[in-house]
Amino acid sequence: MDSKINNQIKMNHLYRGDCIRVMKNKMFPNSIDLVFADPPYNLSGKNLTLIGNKTGGNFYKVNADWDKMSDVDYDKFTDEWINCCYNLLRDRGSIYICCTLHNINSILSSLKKLKMNVKNIITWYKTNAMPNITKRTFTHSTEFIIYATKNSKWVFNYYDLKEINPERQKNGDLKQMRDVWSIPITQGRERLKLDNKKALHPTQKPEELVKRIIIASSNENDLVLDPFIGTGTTAVIAERYNRNWIGIEKDSNYRKHALSRIKNNRI
Ligand SMILES: C[S@@+](CC[C@H](N)C(=O)[O-])C[C@H]1O[C@@H](n2cnc3c(N)ncnc32)[C@H](O)[C@@H]1O
Repeated sequence: MDSKINNQIKMNHLYRGDCIRVMKNKMFPNSIDLVFADPPYNLSGKNLTLIGNKTGGNFYKVNADWDKMSDVDYDKFTDEWINCCYNLLRDRGSIYICCTLHNINSILSSLKKLKMNVKNIITWYKTNAMPNITKRTFTHSTEFIIYATKNSKWVFNYYDLKEINPERQKNGDLKQMRDVWSIPITQGRERLKLDNKKALHPTQKPEELVKRIIIASSNENDLVLDPFIGTGTTAVIAERYNRNWIGIEKDSNYRKHALSRIKNNRI
């Protein structure tokens, strides 16, 4: 898919920069069908490191500058970017936001201020979660994905979800997609690696997870926005299922790798 201008929006394009600025200055209200957002969780510097794990390095502790804010700044940032997404969404549009117990309150509070309708809180059960080296809590093996809609009419492709649901009923029939998804943390060939074999990005989301969201809440030729696109997962899946996309990423190295991943997936 080439970049194309539709109603002055540059589609299938990865902007580099701060998503709030890009959404305010480069995009238009009521133009987006679906937002998938995997924002910073503001966890850096607050967790223990697991040294030398095989999945690609010490990334139990996400320790990145983009993931460090005071609690007050984080709430303000969350309000601001969600507000921008709300303005860009079409009336029938949906938003999915990844989070953990650490930031779920901020996100729900921002959605509530906008009177968005929270339809589900999906639990992502990470079947290969990192071990708990503190031995002082239950081992964390879940993240959440808040699914909210803007208005009373929204796209939900119930039957397509049944088709792609890997779970089956006892007699082998198709099964409704539930709100608990068992998916491993991105690993193997899907995981982008540096030359030293460490993971390029600490939080690359699994393609399977993004696929379910795109199939559920968009149709072919719709426009999907990811304001924190990281390694480009959303763009790759959007193209695979014939959706248009816009991505935003402030880190130029991640953007460079995302662009080459998108290009490779076209081949
Ligand atoms: C949790 S990661 C997203 C990972 C992505 N879902 C993937 O599959 O690779 C968040 C990303 O947002 C970027 N980021 C952080 N703050 C940003 C901002 N204000 N504007 C744009 N990108 C930002 C970070 O550089 C990081 O790559």
